Amino acid sequence: MSVIEAENLAKIFRVYKKKAGFWGGVQGLFHREYEEIRAVDSVRFSVAEGELVGFLGPNGAGKTTVLKMLSGLLFPTSGKARVLGFVPWERADEYRRQFSLVMGQKNQLWWDLPARESFELNREIYAIERPVFEQKLDELTALLDVKEKLNVMVRELSLGERMKMELIAALLHSPRVLLLDEPTIGLDVVSQKRVREFIREYNRNYRVTILLTSHYMTDIEELCERVIIIHRGKIFFDGKLAEIVNRFAGHKILHLVCREFRTAELPASLGETLERRDGMVRLKVPRARVASVCHDLFVRYPIEDISIEEAPIEDIIREIFGQEG
Ligand SMILES: Nc1ncnc2c1ncn2[C@@H]1O[C@H](COP(=O)(O)OP(=O)(O)O)[C@@H](O)[C@H]1O
Ligand SMILES: [Mg+2]
Repeated sequence: MSVIEAENLAKIFRVYKKKAGFWGGVQGLFHREYEEIRAVDSVRFSVAEGELVGFLGPNGAGKTTVLKMLSGLLFPTSGKARVLGFVPWERADEYRRQFSLVMGQKNQLWWDLPARESFELNREIYAIERPVFEQKLDELTALLDVKEKLNVMVRELSLGERMKMELIAALLHSPRVLLLDEPTIGLDVVSQKRVREFIREYNRNYRVTILLTSHYMTDIEELCERVIIIHRGKIFFDGKLAEIVNRFAGHKILHLVCREFRTAELPASLGETLERRDGMVRLKVPRARVASVCHDLFVRYPIEDISIEEAPIEDIIREIFGQEG
């Protein structure tokens, strides 16, 4: 059963185009010119119950806009969507109780209150029964290791601790759908890992359906089997993460060891030398030429060791999007 369904979903923003200079401004008083930004363009996808799907794309691709529409914060210009059977922008109370949106760059907690107070407020809003609330809070704070921070003013928490509290706030009412927009942005490596592990465990234990955006490919690689890539508002790829390598990786990385590489530069015709240290060389070679380059290398040099690696996903994504990402 699909929990999230989007069909031809589109969002066009109309923004007032400012003209330069004084006369441009005066002209603008009479003839307003608008520019249309097609932020999301005929997007179609569906997510099954319990899936944890990565939502990727360069800055400005339209990810946040899609998540906002699925949360009912924005009306689409056209198209349809259903989440748990609800049309999000109809903002049914029943729907509100069953999903959460967490944005890494925005905070929902009260800055001047301890997190616990904000949680209490959520308890009221969602009418969570006291014992259920306490048990859930206990479990979440234990999983995220912030039990001791509950009574600290939110403004005094570290960024990582604050993000953990945001996640707790989003999960207290046990939503069935979780939309995570850059939940690890700006966090230190240790907090990032902790949040990542938490997301994985939570998804496994509760079969919560999760759509996750992140700029950190480690997040995506460790959490998501399936990814949807959006580019200029359109779906560019929807499938297994592993398939991206097969479909889009233009090169492989040869890892070579040879005494002669201590002194000899490798000719550029073999490939791009990414790194050269002592007798070790990492060589970037176009996929189609890997076999012939290996052959040439063995003919020319007394190679001691060789391994062939796939290009890192990060590089492949960067290749796909060129400089935009
Ligand atoms: N409220 C808005 N008004 C006008 N343009 C917007 C608004 N929100 C987003 N956009 C534009 O829509 C496009 C998609 O933005 P966004 O969904 O935030 O991308 P992403 O989250 O993938 O970085 C961008 O070109 C952005 O500038
Ligand atoms: Mg965004």
